[in-house]
Amino acid sequence: MVKVVLGAFYGDEGKGKIIDYLASESDYVIRFSGGNNAGHTIEVDEKKFAFHLIPSGILYKKAKAILGNGVVIDPKVLIEEIENLKSNGYKVNNLYISNKAHLILPYHIELDEMYESIRNNKIGTTKRGIGPAYCDKFERSGIRMEDFISPRFKELLKENIRNKNVILKAFDYPECDFEKIYKEYSKYAKTLKKYVCDTTSMLHKAIKDNRKILCEGAQATLLDIDFGSYPYVTSSNPTIGGVSTGTGIGSRYIKEVYGVIKAYSSRVGEGPYVTELNNEIGDRIRELGHEYGTTTKRPRRCGWLDIVALNYSIMINGLTGIALNHLDTIGKLDKIKLCVAYEYKGKRVENFSTNMEFLENSKPIYEEFEGNFGDLSNIKTYEELPENAKKYIERIEELTNTKVKFIGTGAGREDLIVRWFIIIIHLLMV
Ligand code: GDP
Ligand code: IMO
Ligand code: MG
Repeated sequence: MVKVVLGAFYGDEGKGKIIDYLASESDYVIRFSGGNNAGHTIEVDEKKFAFHLIPSGILYKKAKAILGNGVVIDPKVLIEEIENLKSNGYKVNNLYISNKAHLILPYHIELDEMYESIRNNKIGTTKRGIGPAYCDKFERSGIRMEDFISPRFKELLKENIRNKNVILKAFDYPECDFEKIYKEYSKYAKTLKKYVCDTTSMLHKAIKDNRKILCEGAQATLLDIDFGSYPYVTSSNPTIGGVSTGTGIGSRYIKEVYGVIKAYSSRVGEGPYVTELNNEIGDRIRELGHEYGTTTKRPRRCGWLDIVALNYSIMINGLTGIALNHLDTIGKLDKIKLCVAYEYKGKRVENFSTNMEFLENSKPIYEEFEGNFGDLSNIKTYEELPENAKKYIERIEELTNTKVKFIGTGAGREDLIVRWFIIIIHLLMV
């Protein structure tokens, strides 16, 4: 049984928190795309964990945490994360890294910075080397984990550095020193060697043995290289297709797909954003929701929830349910707006498009809801929620024809309402 949790908007929807809940009942948790551009936060007993690479499910010692072949790995960052977990009492003996995952090396980070600086239209990347590392993968010069931990690493690194230095030099960027990088990264290879294995075979054995597998999405649908607001996107497929290519698990095994959203929306980095609020309400949401990047600490752009974009995300990913976080945050406002359609060239439009001209010229059409939900901290069931909150959620369900299965009422692990109706309906239908 395979379940997937992925971002339905522009990232930072609170995927880490939903993963953390579902990981408690999973045997395997696997990251399938992206790298340490991700920042997934989990708060347990007032302690905050921010995961960039290691799957958020690692906190459950029973679950095997896997970095799938679709992930790009900065070994330095990964080792720091492992050390941090160890210093918090986690043994990290349940981590596995795909032999096919690609490396992020220092020249990828330098090139990421360089390309950003020479671009006229900045993307606002996280400067973690993600784009250049995926470029090398597709250009077939990337270095995989299995090469990293083998004697082949030396020659591959030498050739890559020779080629990258030509580009760096042409743009007056400091060239990379092979000897220095080789010495440092050989040490990392030794440390990581014991985690590297054929994770695809491992997952297929798990499927045969009826184990529960949870796939942890990073980034989000509207940042997808194919389906997002290109070129203001990341360089991987955070959407449902990325699960299969990034793990080796075929789509027939995937039974549940949850798209995570916030009760409002946010975006970090450049690119169009139809429901963005460049005013004091946007600033208020940012402060109430602590909307500052987990990875780069950049202030996030904030706005209302966008049903047009959400319906696109539901369509692309075949979502079976929605996880809606930050109900507590939005409930602190007096009035809440929900974008139900766009106005484009004087016409009402309900279908999303990632075409730049369309997004830049569309205006949101809103419905308004009463806020002031009050203190939600002790609410554990949907029925206990205030009427105003239920009205808002039920309108989202009506407009998307999709059930809201998880509701976040705070940042802590326990601040989550789980609704069971989807499973009951599912069981009745089987
Ligand atoms: P991710 O990248 O999708 O995992 O999300 P991030 O961790 O980058 O950002 C989500 C932020 O919202 C984190 O600081 C979470 O602790 C916090 N968060 C998640 N769910 C809720 C919620 O329901 N209410 C509140 N107040 N905070 C939440
Ligand atoms: P999580 O998993 C939000 C954005 C960057 C930039 C664009 C490209 O925490 O939701 P990249 O470094 O990937 O080349 O940057 O994508 N971006 C994210 N925004 N959440 C993320 O991850 C993101 N990962 C990348 O801000 O706009
Ligand atoms: Mg994040």
